[in-house]
Amino acid sequence: MVKMAPSILSADFGHLLDDIKKVEEAGVELLHIDIMDGHYVPNISFGPVVLKSIQGKTSVPFDVHLMIENPDQYIESFVQSGADIITVHAEATVHLHRTIQNIKSHGVKAAVSLNPATPLVVLEEVLPELDMVLLMSVNPGFGGQSFIETTLDKITRLRKMITDRGLDIDIQVDGGVKLTNAKAIVDAGANVLVAGSAIFGTDDIAETVQKFREVVK
Ligand code: DX5
Ligand code: ZN
Repeated sequence: MVKMAPSILSADFGHLLDDIKKVEEAGVELLHIDIMDGHYVPNISFGPVVLKSIQGKTSVPFDVHLMIENPDQYIESFVQSGADIITVHAEATVHLHRTIQNIKSHGVKAAVSLNPATPLVVLEEVLPELDMVLLMSVNPGFGGQSFIETTLDKITRLRKMITDRGLDIDIQVDGGVKLTNAKAIVDAGANVLVAGSAIFGTDDIAETVQKFREVVK
């Protein structure tokens, strides 16, 4: 089954909990939470304090995408703020294996993200440790960018890598995911779709989530 993970980066921060309730009522599987530090990516979003303010107010699991330098320093803080899955960028940590163990030591799921230019080979030694891989289909930092088409082939190759090793790992795709390309992304082998502007930028959020479910059927 395809899991929907709306990115609250495109939500209305003045009414954050209201927007979260809308996607919760639409039955989404994950709440995608983009953390940006202004160093690893050229944009700043918000930190653990904001997560804490919504912790316990929604039943949707927190899928925390860390686009920050030195992620190890903040993992515990995000766990305490309610993270259920923590994703770190392979490019942002020198000791990726250690960072993954750090995440898992807190009893939450561990995922690694790769930027569009980062080859799949960096995952080879750590793949069995992971619950999910996040393939960026835009250069991270902003919502509303266009999907980079070469990601489709990368998804196919990653799915083969996972299947060939007999592993069970989610493939999440993030950036420029729309109703028009969701099917191609899922057909390529992804099973978790992040969508920010395509969901929160519409008038009827529940209806849009439902349309996503229909197009990927
Ligand atoms: C980009 C973020 C995405 C972003 C996606 O750096 O990681 O999660 O919010 O936004 P859309 O779906 O609008 O491309
Ligand atoms: Zn993201």
